[in-house]
Amino acid sequence: MMQLYDNPASPFCRKVQVLLHETGQTGDVETVYAVGHPLAPEKMPLAQNPLGKIPALVREDGPAIYDSRVICRFLDARAGAGLYPESHLWDVLTLEATADGIMDAAVLMVYEVRARPEELRYQAWVDAQWDKVARGLDAIGARWMGHLAGRLDMGQIAIACALGYLDFRHDARGWRQGRNELAAWYEEFAKRPSMVATVPTA
Ligand code: BEZ
Repeated sequence: MMQLYDNPASPFCRKVQVLLHETGQTGDVETVYAVGHPLAPEKMPLAQNPLGKIPALVREDGPAIYDSRVICRFLDARAGAGLYPESHLWDVLTLEATADGIMDAAVLMVYEVRARPEELRYQAWVDAQWDKVARGLDAIGARWMGHLAGRLDMGQIAIACALGYLDFRHDARGWRQGRNELAAWYEEFAKRPSMVATVPTA
């Protein structure tokens, strides 16, 4: 049995969980709850990942691996699922990187409030993170809608997890405004059993 260090609010962990569902591997992984941030790393998997970040995966037959992209690639190969098809590999990886960048910015906005004392907060920096999210979403609308309509791959899963996190933590920012096509795609994608089973919780 593998062990996955996980938090049900994390969009990076959700990528792994959705992949596990889509590839029939949920029974091969025990989930270990992890919580914290750089100022409170005690409950993070420091022995498994020196960066103290989640997700981290302890494999049956090798050292722990970490970074959601590494873990997803490993689990996809383990299942032979083809979520990183050779024919579109660079597209899938670029789309996944775009999703991860949106998640990074959206998570930083949350941690700015959660971890930083109020008197040290810098609203312009928070707003600049949202600008990054918005540019990422606009790029998806302009370049990637055809790809999103195609066969399931890890780029699609990652984008859906990023959008789910925006609903979860940044609903008030209204990411759907002016992005009808992406919103319609997400509405359908979010109905997949893998997405329903992994809706974020605090
Ligand atoms: C959150 O609570 O939003 C969160 C938790 C863990 C990782 C990333 C985000």
